[in-house]
Amino acid sequence: MLPVRTLPRFLLRTCKRVDTKFPLGILNRTQLRKMSASAMAARLEGKTIVVTGASSGIGRATAVEFARTAPKNLKLILTARRLETLEEVAAQINKEVGDGVKVLPFKLDVSKPDEVKTFVERLPEEFREIDVLVNNAFVVPHPPGPLASLLRGI
Ligand SMILES: NC(=O)c1ccc[n+]([C@@H]2O[C@H](COP(=O)([O-])OP(=O)(O)OC[C@H]3O[C@@H](n4cnc5c(N)ncnc54)[C@H](OP(=O)(O)O)[C@@H]3O)[C@@H](O)[C@H]2O)c1
Repeated sequence: MLPVRTLPRFLLRTCKRVDTKFPLGILNRTQLRKMSASAMAARLEGKTIVVTGASSGIGRATAVEFARTAPKNLKLILTARRLETLEEVAAQINKEVGDGVKVLPFKLDVSKPDEVKTFVERLPEEFREIDVLVNNAFVVPHPPGPLASLLRGI
């Protein structure tokens, strides 16, 4: 390992910003990853997170990662149209991280304004204080005809 005095100045400045007790020169990559993961877990602790489109793809993977990051105290509301699939995701999460993450599978079709407007009030009370929204399910009108005519009117 290089003596500290030979490290470039900018790196030393970064070390001071990160943590003066652990200059980067004596931390390996795994230690740095652990530090940032525990900082992230602390920020997520106790939060309530909604992920739309959580039954597959990016939404599902995002939900699982949130649970892995803060497995001790987190509430996850997983929404999509396929409730059974959401229940499978919830079971997968609880099997992997345990009961510290409370998962609520919730059927929600984001293309239906009435369902979206009443979404929060239909949640169990303990899930209503939402801290984070991952607005992943995106509905593109198909065929694009009506959208195109709407845009032409602007
Ligand atoms: N994958 C990519 O490369 C990519 C690139 C750019 C942008 N994106 C965007 O990222 C988002 C997720 O992509 P993805 O690849 O993960 O897609 P995906 O695997 O097809 O997942 C889409 C998710 O959205 C849900 N969903 C679809 N229509 C819905 C509706 N009307 N109401 C509620 N939920 C609905 C689906 O669940 P149900 O069928 O159970 O409702 C599913 O959970 C999309 O908005 C996509 O446009 C993806």
